[in-house]
Amino acid sequence: RRVADAADVEDLRRLAMKRAPRMVFDYVDGAAEGERSMARAVEAFGRVEFRPRVLRDVAEAPTAVEILGRRIAMPVVLGPTGFTRMMHRAGERAVARAAQRAGVPYTLSTMGTTTAQDVAAATPGGWNWFQLYVVRDRARSLETLALAREAGMDVLVVTVDVPVAGARLRDVRHGLTVPPSLRWRSVLQALARPAWWFDFVTSEPLRFATVEGAPEDLAGITNMMFDPSVTIKDLEWIRSAWRGPLLVKGVQRVDDAKDLAAVGVDGLVVSNHGGRQLDRSPTPLELLPEVVDAVGDRTEVFLDGGVRSGADVAAAVALGARACFIGRAYLYGLMAGGEAGVTRVLDLLHAELVRTTQLLGVAGVGGLDRDVVRLRPP
Ligand code: FNR
Repeated sequence: RRVADAADVEDLRRLAMKRAPRMVFDYVDGAAEGERSMARAVEAFGRVEFRPRVLRDVAEAPTAVEILGRRIAMPVVLGPTGFTRMMHRAGERAVARAAQRAGVPYTLSTMGTTTAQDVAAATPGGWNWFQLYVVRDRARSLETLALAREAGMDVLVVTVDVPVAGARLRDVRHGLTVPPSLRWRSVLQALARPAWWFDFVTSEPLRFATVEGAPEDLAGITNMMFDPSVTIKDLEWIRSAWRGPLLVKGVQRVDDAKDLAAVGVDGLVVSNHGGRQLDRSPTPLELLPEVVDAVGDRTEVFLDGGVRSGADVAAAVALGARACFIGRAYLYGLMAGGEAGVTRVLDLLHAELVRTTQLLGVAGVGGLDRDVVRLRPP
Protein backbone atom coordinates (compact mmCIF):
# COMPACT_ATOMS: atom_id res chain seq x y z
CA ARG A 1 0.00 0.00 0.00
CA ARG A 2 1.11 3.50 -0.78
CA VAL A 3 0.34 6.68 1.14
CA ALA A 4 -1.92 7.82 -1.70
CA ASP A 5 -4.19 4.83 -1.03
CA ALA A 6 -4.67 5.71 2.64
CA ALA A 7 -8.36 6.42 3.21
CA ASP A 8 -7.83 8.01 6.61
CA VAL A 9 -5.16 8.82 9.19
CA GLU A 10 -5.59 5.39 10.78
CA ASP A 11 -4.48 3.78 7.49
CA LEU A 12 -1.33 5.92 7.63
CA ARG A 13 -0.80 4.90 11.24
CA ARG A 14 -0.89 1.25 10.19
CA LEU A 15 1.53 1.96 7.35
CA ALA A 16 3.81 3.81 9.77
CA MET A 17 3.84 0.77 12.02
CA LYS A 18 5.12 -1.30 9.10
CA ARG A 19 7.79 1.18 8.03
CA ALA A 20 9.32 2.45 11.28
CA PRO A 21 11.08 0.32 13.89
CA ARG A 22 8.85 -0.54 16.81
CA MET A 23 10.67 1.71 19.29
CA VAL A 24 10.38 4.74 16.99
CA PHE A 25 6.72 4.08 16.24
CA ASP A 26 6.04 3.65 19.96
CA TYR A 27 7.82 6.90 20.80
CA VAL A 28 5.23 8.65 18.63
CA ASP A 29 2.20 6.47 19.31
CA GLY A 30 2.69 6.13 23.05
CA ALA A 31 1.89 8.41 25.97
CA ALA A 32 2.61 8.62 29.70
CA GLU A 33 2.01 6.03 32.40
CA GLY A 34 -1.28 4.17 31.73
CA GLU A 35 -1.92 6.25 28.57
CA ARG A 36 -5.37 7.20 29.85
CA SER A 37 -5.09 10.90 29.02
CA MET A 38 -4.40 9.99 25.41
CA ALA A 39 -7.15 7.37 25.24
CA ARG A 40 -9.66 9.81 26.75
CA ALA A 41 -8.70 12.56 24.31
CA VAL A 42 -9.43 10.27 21.37
CA GLU A 43 -12.54 8.83 23.03
CA ALA A 44 -13.97 12.33 23.62
CA PHE A 45 -13.96 12.95 19.88
CA GLY A 46 -15.86 9.68 19.53
CA ARG A 47 -18.55 11.10 21.81
CA VAL A 48 -19.16 14.07 19.53
CA GLU A 49 -22.71 14.12 18.23
CA PHE A 50 -23.21 16.29 15.19
CA ARG A 51 -26.61 17.90 14.76
CA PRO A 52 -26.98 18.52 11.02
CA ARG A 53 -29.33 21.05 9.50
CA VAL A 54 -30.94 19.99 6.27
CA LEU A 55 -31.92 21.88 3.13
CA ARG A 56 -29.21 24.50 3.47
CA ASP A 57 -27.18 25.63 0.51
CA VAL A 58 -23.80 24.03 1.07
CA ALA A 59 -22.48 24.37 -2.46
CA GLU A 60 -19.67 26.53 -1.11
CA ALA A 61 -17.75 25.24 1.90
CA PRO A 62 -14.81 27.53 2.56
CA THR A 63 -12.32 26.37 5.19
CA ALA A 64 -10.01 29.39 5.54
CA VAL A 65 -9.86 31.11 8.93
CA GLU A 66 -7.94 33.98 10.44
CA ILE A 67 -5.69 33.32 13.41
CA LEU A 68 -3.29 35.75 15.04
CA GLY A 69 -4.10 38.27 12.33
CA ARG A 70 -3.31 36.05 9.36
CA ARG A 71 -5.39 33.92 7.06
CA ILE A 72 -4.65 30.21 6.87
CA ALA A 73 -6.23 27.63 4.57
CA MET A 74 -7.94 25.63 7.31
CA PRO A 75 -8.02 25.69 11.13
CA VAL A 76 -5.06 23.34 11.55
CA VAL A 77 -1.58 24.03 12.90
CA LEU A 78 1.22 21.46 12.77
CA GLY A 79 2.30 21.36 16.39
CA PRO A 80 5.85 21.02 17.71
CA THR A 81 7.32 17.53 17.96
CA GLY A 82 10.84 16.64 19.02
CA PHE A 83 13.40 14.48 17.19
CA THR A 84 11.46 14.53 13.94
CA ARG A 85 14.41 13.22 11.89
CA MET A 86 14.19 10.04 13.91
CA MET A 87 10.77 9.35 12.35
CA HIS A 88 12.02 9.89 8.81
CA ARG A 89 15.27 11.24 7.44
CA ALA A 90 13.43 14.10 5.69
CA GLY A 91 12.42 15.31 9.18
CA GLU A 92 11.34 18.85 9.97
CA ARG A 93 12.02 20.17 6.48
CA ALA A 94 9.53 17.74 4.97
CA VAL A 95 6.87 18.57 7.55
CA ALA A 96 7.34 22.32 7.09
CA ARG A 97 7.15 21.99 3.30
CA ALA A 98 3.96 19.94 3.48
CA ALA A 99 2.44 22.51 5.85
CA GLN A 100 3.37 25.35 3.54
CA ARG A 101 1.85 23.57 0.55
CA ALA A 102 -1.37 23.08 2.52
CA GLY A 103 -1.39 26.74 3.57
CA VAL A 104 -1.12 26.15 7.31
CA PRO A 105 1.59 26.98 9.88
CA TYR A 106 4.30 24.63 11.11
CA THR A 107 5.79 24.84 14.60
CA LEU A 108 9.44 23.90 15.08
CA SER A 109 10.24 22.41 18.50
CA THR A 110 13.09 23.38 20.82
CA MET A 111 13.84 19.64 20.64
CA GLY A 112 13.87 19.72 16.85
CA THR A 113 16.58 18.00 14.86
CA THR A 114 16.85 20.68 12.15
CA THR A 115 17.85 24.28 12.78
CA ALA A 116 15.37 27.14 12.46
CA GLN A 117 17.52 28.49 9.65
CA ASP A 118 17.35 25.22 7.68
CA VAL A 119 13.58 24.97 8.16
CA ALA A 120 13.20 28.56 6.93
CA ALA A 121 15.45 27.87 3.93
CA ALA A 122 13.30 24.87 2.97
CA THR A 123 10.10 26.94 3.04
CA PRO A 124 10.65 30.46 1.68
CA GLY A 125 7.48 32.44 2.31
CA GLY A 126 6.05 29.75 4.60
CA TRP A 127 4.57 30.61 8.01
CA ASN A 128 6.76 28.84 10.54
CA TRP A 129 6.35 29.19 14.29
CA PHE A 130 8.78 28.33 17.05
CA GLN A 131 8.12 26.42 20.27
CA LEU A 132 10.18 27.18 23.35
CA TYR A 133 10.97 25.13 26.40
CA VAL A 134 12.51 27.31 29.09
CA VAL A 135 15.83 25.68 29.93
CA ARG A 136 17.94 26.14 33.07
CA ASP A 137 20.35 28.38 31.22
CA ARG A 138 18.19 31.46 30.47
CA ALA A 139 20.88 33.01 28.26
CA ARG A 140 20.55 29.92 26.11
CA SER A 141 16.78 30.33 25.91
CA LEU A 142 17.32 33.91 24.73
CA GLU A 143 19.85 32.75 22.11
CA THR A 144 17.37 30.15 20.89
CA LEU A 145 14.72 32.85 20.56
CA ALA A 146 17.08 35.12 18.64
CA LEU A 147 17.89 32.32 16.18
CA ALA A 148 14.21 31.60 15.63
CA ARG A 149 13.44 35.24 15.07
CA GLU A 150 16.36 35.64 12.65
CA ALA A 151 14.97 32.70 10.71
CA GLY A 152 11.70 34.65 10.35
CA MET A 153 9.66 32.68 12.87
CA ASP A 154 7.34 35.33 14.26
CA VAL A 155 4.99 33.34 16.50
CA LEU A 156 6.33 31.91 19.76
CA VAL A 157 4.67 28.96 21.49
CA VAL A 158 5.86 28.43 25.05
CA THR A 159 5.11 24.94 26.32
CA VAL A 160 4.40 24.89 30.05
CA ASP A 161 3.39 21.32 30.83
CA VAL A 162 6.89 19.86 31.08
CA PRO A 163 8.39 20.93 34.42
CA VAL A 164 9.85 17.42 34.38
CA ALA A 165 9.66 14.58 31.86
CA GLY A 166 6.54 12.44 31.80
CA ALA A 167 6.97 8.70 32.18
CA ARG A 168 6.59 7.22 28.71
CA LEU A 169 6.63 3.59 29.63
CA ARG A 170 6.87 2.24 26.08
CA ASP A 171 10.18 4.12 25.73
CA VAL A 172 11.41 2.82 29.07
CA ARG A 173 10.56 -0.74 28.10
CA HIS A 174 12.30 -0.43 24.73
CA GLY A 175 15.33 1.25 26.29
CA LEU A 176 14.90 4.04 23.71
CA THR A 177 17.90 6.32 23.38
CA VAL A 178 18.21 9.49 21.35
CA PRO A 179 19.52 8.94 18.79
CA PRO A 180 18.38 5.30 18.72
CA SER A 181 21.35 3.00 19.00
CA LEU A 182 21.73 -0.62 18.04
CA ARG A 183 21.74 -2.19 21.45
CA TRP A 184 20.72 -5.75 21.97
CA ARG A 185 17.11 -4.75 22.55
CA SER A 186 16.86 -2.98 19.21
CA VAL A 187 18.79 -5.37 16.97
CA LEU A 188 15.72 -7.45 16.16
CA GLN A 189 13.67 -4.33 15.44
CA ALA A 190 16.43 -3.08 13.16
CA LEU A 191 16.54 -6.35 11.27
CA ALA A 192 12.79 -6.14 10.81
CA ARG A 193 12.97 -2.62 9.28
CA PRO A 194 16.21 -2.58 7.25
CA ALA A 195 15.12 0.28 4.98
CA TRP A 196 14.50 2.60 7.92
CA TRP A 197 17.86 1.80 9.53
CA PHE A 198 19.70 2.22 6.26
CA ASP A 199 18.12 5.66 5.79
CA PHE A 200 18.80 6.56 9.39
CA VAL A 201 22.46 5.60 9.53
CA THR A 202 23.24 7.13 6.14
CA SER A 203 21.59 10.49 6.85
CA GLU A 204 23.15 13.45 8.60
CA PRO A 205 23.75 12.50 12.26
CA LEU A 206 20.97 13.50 14.65
CA ARG A 207 22.28 16.43 16.59
CA PHE A 208 20.14 18.83 18.44
CA ALA A 209 21.60 22.17 19.19
CA THR A 210 20.62 22.52 22.81
CA VAL A 211 22.24 19.47 24.44
CA GLU A 212 25.85 18.58 25.08
CA GLY A 213 27.07 15.73 27.21
CA ALA A 214 23.49 14.77 27.98
CA PRO A 215 22.32 11.37 29.11
CA GLU A 216 21.01 9.17 26.30
CA ASP A 217 17.46 8.54 27.41
CA LEU A 218 14.85 11.11 26.65
CA ALA A 219 13.61 11.63 30.20
CA GLY A 220 17.22 12.11 31.32
CA ILE A 221 17.87 14.69 28.60
CA THR A 222 14.65 16.53 29.46
CA ASN A 223 15.31 16.63 33.19
CA MET A 224 18.86 17.81 32.68
CA MET A 225 17.88 20.63 30.32
CA PHE A 226 14.49 21.86 31.50
CA ASP A 227 14.00 24.15 34.42
CA PRO A 228 11.37 22.87 36.87
CA SER A 229 11.33 26.21 38.72
CA VAL A 230 9.70 28.20 35.89
CA THR A 231 6.74 30.36 36.98
CA ILE A 232 4.41 32.91 35.45
CA LYS A 233 7.10 35.53 36.19
CA ASP A 234 9.21 33.90 33.48
CA LEU A 235 6.31 34.30 31.15
CA GLU A 236 6.23 38.02 31.85
CA TRP A 237 9.95 38.07 31.03
CA ILE A 238 9.36 36.17 27.78
CA ARG A 239 6.44 38.46 26.94
CA SER A 240 8.74 41.47 27.20
CA ALA A 241 11.52 39.75 25.21
CA TRP A 242 9.28 38.63 22.32
CA ARG A 243 7.52 41.21 20.20
CA GLY A 244 5.49 38.86 18.00
CA PRO A 245 2.41 36.85 18.93
CA LEU A 246 2.94 34.69 22.03
CA LEU A 247 1.04 31.46 22.71
CA VAL A 248 1.15 29.30 25.81
CA LYS A 249 0.66 25.58 25.24
CA GLY A 250 -0.39 23.15 27.92
CA VAL A 251 -3.21 24.99 29.69
CA GLN A 252 -5.35 22.57 31.70
CA ARG A 253 -7.41 24.74 34.07
CA VAL A 254 -9.69 27.74 33.71
CA ASP A 255 -7.98 29.71 36.52
CA ASP A 256 -4.58 29.28 34.86
CA ALA A 257 -6.11 30.39 31.56
CA LYS A 258 -7.34 33.58 33.26
CA ASP A 259 -3.93 34.29 34.82
CA LEU A 260 -2.24 33.81 31.45
CA ALA A 261 -4.74 36.01 29.66
CA ALA A 262 -3.92 38.70 32.25
CA VAL A 263 -0.23 38.52 31.29
CA GLY A 264 -1.24 39.48 27.78
CA VAL A 265 -0.57 36.32 25.83
CA ASP A 266 -2.09 36.26 22.37
CA GLY A 267 -3.27 32.68 22.57
CA LEU A 268 -3.62 29.59 24.72
CA VAL A 269 -3.45 25.97 23.67
CA VAL A 270 -5.72 23.77 25.76
CA SER A 271 -3.53 20.68 25.75
CA ASN A 272 -2.16 17.92 27.91
CA HIS A 273 0.75 17.30 25.56
CA GLY A 274 -1.07 14.49 23.81
CA GLY A 275 -1.23 12.64 27.14
CA ARG A 276 2.55 12.38 27.27
CA GLN A 277 3.00 14.22 30.58
CA LEU A 278 0.54 13.91 33.48
CA ASP A 279 -1.68 10.90 33.01
CA ARG A 280 -5.40 11.32 33.80
CA SER A 281 -5.30 15.07 33.21
CA PRO A 282 -8.34 16.96 31.87
CA THR A 283 -9.53 15.96 28.42
CA PRO A 284 -8.88 18.90 26.08
CA LEU A 285 -12.13 18.68 24.12
CA GLU A 286 -14.17 18.63 27.35
CA LEU A 287 -12.26 21.52 28.93
CA LEU A 288 -12.31 23.68 25.81
CA PRO A 289 -15.77 25.32 26.13
CA GLU A 290 -15.10 26.46 29.72
CA VAL A 291 -11.80 28.04 28.72
CA VAL A 292 -13.37 29.72 25.70
CA ASP A 293 -16.16 31.12 27.90
CA ALA A 294 -13.64 32.43 30.44
CA VAL A 295 -11.01 34.04 28.21
CA GLY A 296 -12.10 33.67 24.58
CA ASP A 297 -12.90 37.37 24.32
CA ARG A 298 -9.34 38.33 25.36
CA THR A 299 -7.14 35.69 23.79
CA GLU A 300 -7.33 33.12 21.00
CA VAL A 301 -8.00 29.62 22.27
CA PHE A 302 -6.58 26.58 20.48
CA LEU A 303 -6.85 22.88 21.25
CA ASP A 304 -4.76 19.80 20.74
CA GLY A 305 -4.88 16.15 21.67
CA GLY A 306 -6.64 13.34 19.86
CA VAL A 307 -7.31 15.11 16.57
CA ARG A 308 -7.22 12.42 13.90
CA SER A 309 -9.67 13.68 11.24
CA GLY A 310 -11.20 16.74 9.66
CA ALA A 311 -14.44 15.89 11.44
CA ASP A 312 -12.53 16.16 14.74
CA VAL A 313 -11.29 19.59 13.64
CA ALA A 314 -14.87 20.62 12.81
CA ALA A 315 -16.06 19.50 16.26
CA ALA A 316 -13.31 21.39 18.09
CA VAL A 317 -13.95 24.55 16.07
CA ALA A 318 -17.69 24.24 16.75
CA LEU A 319 -16.88 24.08 20.48
CA GLY A 320 -14.86 27.28 20.24
CA ALA A 321 -11.30 26.47 19.13
CA ARG A 322 -9.74 28.95 16.69
CA ALA A 323 -7.77 26.01 15.26
CA CYS A 324 -6.45 22.60 16.28
CA PHE A 325 -2.82 21.68 16.64
CA ILE A 326 -1.99 18.20 15.41
CA GLY A 327 0.91 16.01 16.51
CA ARG A 328 0.71 12.29 15.97
CA ALA A 329 -1.53 12.59 12.91
CA TYR A 330 1.20 14.21 10.82
CA LEU A 331 3.95 12.06 12.34
CA TYR A 332 2.10 8.91 11.24
CA GLY A 333 2.13 10.37 7.72
CA LEU A 334 5.82 11.22 8.00
CA MET A 335 6.76 7.72 9.14
CA ALA A 336 4.53 6.19 6.46
CA GLY A 337 5.93 8.15 3.55
CA GLY A 338 8.00 11.24 4.34
CA GLU A 339 6.78 14.52 2.89
CA ALA A 340 4.18 12.81 0.68
CA GLY A 341 2.79 11.13 3.78
CA VAL A 342 2.38 14.44 5.62
CA THR A 343 0.76 15.96 2.54
CA ARG A 344 -1.64 13.02 2.42
CA VAL A 345 -2.63 13.67 6.05
CA LEU A 346 -3.30 17.35 5.36
CA ASP A 347 -5.26 16.55 2.19
CA LEU A 348 -7.38 14.06 4.12
CA LEU A 349 -8.04 16.52 6.96
CA HIS A 350 -9.07 19.18 4.45
CA ALA A 351 -11.41 16.90 2.50
CA GLU A 352 -12.96 15.57 5.72
CA LEU A 353 -13.45 19.09 7.05
CA VAL A 354 -15.17 20.25 3.86
CA ARG A 355 -17.42 17.20 3.75
CA THR A 356 -18.32 17.46 7.44
CA THR A 357 -19.39 21.11 7.18
CA GLN A 358 -21.47 20.30 4.10
CA LEU A 359 -23.17 17.33 5.74
CA LEU A 360 -23.76 19.49 8.81
CA GLY A 361 -25.56 22.06 6.69
CA VAL A 362 -23.31 24.97 7.61
CA ALA A 363 -21.66 27.41 5.25
CA GLY A 364 -18.10 26.21 5.70
CA VAL A 365 -15.92 26.48 8.77
CA GLY A 366 -17.26 29.97 9.53
CA GLY A 367 -20.71 28.47 10.10
CA LEU A 368 -19.59 26.06 12.83
CA ASP A 369 -20.93 26.90 16.29
CA ARG A 370 -22.04 25.14 19.46
CA ASP A 371 -25.50 24.60 18.08
CA VAL A 372 -24.31 21.93 15.63
CA VAL A 373 -22.50 19.66 18.06
CA ARG A 374 -22.90 18.23 21.49
CA LEU A 375 -20.79 15.86 23.55
CA ARG A 376 -22.63 12.70 24.59
CA PRO A 377 -22.07 11.75 28.20
CA PRO A 378 -19.32 9.16 28.78
C1 FNR B 1 5.07 15.95 21.07
N1 FNR B 1 4.64 17.14 21.65
C2 FNR B 1 5.53 18.16 21.88
N2 FNR B 1 5.10 19.37 22.35
C3 FNR B 1 5.96 20.38 22.53
O1 FNR B 1 5.54 21.46 22.94
N3 FNR B 1 7.28 20.22 22.25
C4 FNR B 1 7.79 19.05 21.79
O2 FNR B 1 8.99 18.95 21.53
C5 FNR B 1 6.90 17.96 21.61
N4 FNR B 1 7.35 16.75 21.16
C6 FNR B 1 6.46 15.76 20.84
C7 FNR B 1 6.91 14.58 20.24
C8 FNR B 1 6.01 13.61 19.86
C9 FNR B 1 6.51 12.36 19.20
C10 FNR B 1 4.62 13.80 20.06
C11 FNR B 1 3.61 12.79 19.62
C12 FNR B 1 4.18 14.96 20.67
C13 FNR B 1 3.20 17.36 21.91
C14 FNR B 1 2.50 17.86 20.65
O3 FNR B 1 2.93 19.16 20.32
C15 FNR B 1 0.99 17.91 20.85
O4 FNR B 1 0.67 18.58 22.04
C16 FNR B 1 0.35 16.51 20.88
O5 FNR B 1 1.00 15.68 19.95
C17 FNR B 1 -1.11 16.62 20.58
O6 FNR B 1 -1.73 15.39 20.63
P1 FNR B 1 -1.96 14.45 19.34
O7 FNR B 1 -2.38 15.34 18.19
O8 FNR B 1 -0.65 13.79 19.08
O9 FNR B 1 -3.01 13.51 19.79
